[in-house]
Amino acid sequence: MMRRSVLFSPLLLLSGCATEQSIWNAQGPAASRIATLMWAIIIMFLIVTLIMWALLIIPTFRRGSLEEHAPVDIGGGQGWVALGGLLIPLTVLTGFFVAGLTLMERFPIHDPSNTAVLRPDILVIGHQWWWEVHYLDGQPDQRFATANEIHIPAGRPVTLEVESQDVNHAFWVPNLHGKIDMIPGHPNFMRIEANHPGKYVGQCAEYCGEQHAHMRLLVVAQSAGAYRAWTQQMLEPGHASTTPEAIAGEQVFLSGACSICHMVRGTVAGGTVAPDLTHIGSRMYIGTDSFPNNKAYLEAWVTHAQSLEPGVLMPDLTDFNGVQLRDLVAYLQQLK
Ligand code: CUA
Repeated sequence: MMRRSVLFSPLLLLSGCATEQSIWNAQGPAASRIATLMWAIIIMFLIVTLIMWALLIIPTFRRGSLEEHAPVDIGGGQGWVALGGLLIPLTVLTGFFVAGLTLMERFPIHDPSNTAVLRPDILVIGHQWWWEVHYLDGQPDQRFATANEIHIPAGRPVTLEVESQDVNHAFWVPNLHGKIDMIPGHPNFMRIEANHPGKYVGQCAEYCGEQHAHMRLLVVAQSAGAYRAWTQQMLEPGHASTTPEAIAGEQVFLSGACSICHMVRGTVAGGTVAPDLTHIGSRMYIGTDSFPNNKAYLEAWVTHAQSLEPGVLMPDLTDFNGVQLRDLVAYLQQLK
């Protein structure tokens, strides 16, 4: 599996310690139900295919003249046509159609009469090209927003509300659940649950423009204690700069173009059109979870975002000198 992933480097780095992104490896109840239906369809497909090939191959071994194998009567074989061409496909397809509808019925849908289902724990808003994530669970002072990395407690269901700010996107974490559309002005709901703590890679599953393929996503399922610690960390404002580099970098960030679009809570940077950077230093990836969060990629992202992800709203910021760039990245890295 690793060898195949090498082809997709640097996405390899993304899958490094995460569970392989796959519908075959269900890690939650919803994904398990979908996988069960999928296996049933595959097994039925194999059975039908085997019978079909047997019926095609067996006659080729028949010996004798055409007269010997002529239909016994003029209507001969019509029963087979009705059975194989009509009755079996109708039964199989109807069966799977009903099974599919029954499965979908078990997932939460937009139903105004059912407020218990409708109250989301997390609101995910799709953007070209990043994920805005609001934690709505708990009292107003326990709510916060972050981006691109969704943390959930393992072993319990989490209700997501998904929508979009611009074009249609789709939320898809194959190990946990099926796809759901993110449509501007039309919230959809989904309940995900991870059986165990782990990292699950997802991605946008609806073509949404030039960087659709880079619109990746990371779901981090944590034990109850670790999740609580993480939410407390996220509720904190941006980490105060202590080193000389970070202090200088904070000035670069606040006086430059960064703060127009990005937010760092606790500072004057209040931009909301780009990902919240209050705790960027604690995230594993940058560039919509497409590149590792390290010094080299942070510097590359600041100065050459248009090379890493052509068309992204982040401009190439080439006005910084070397020292300013180093300080700025030092500031970002200590925002944990
Ligand atoms: Cu967002 Cu494709």
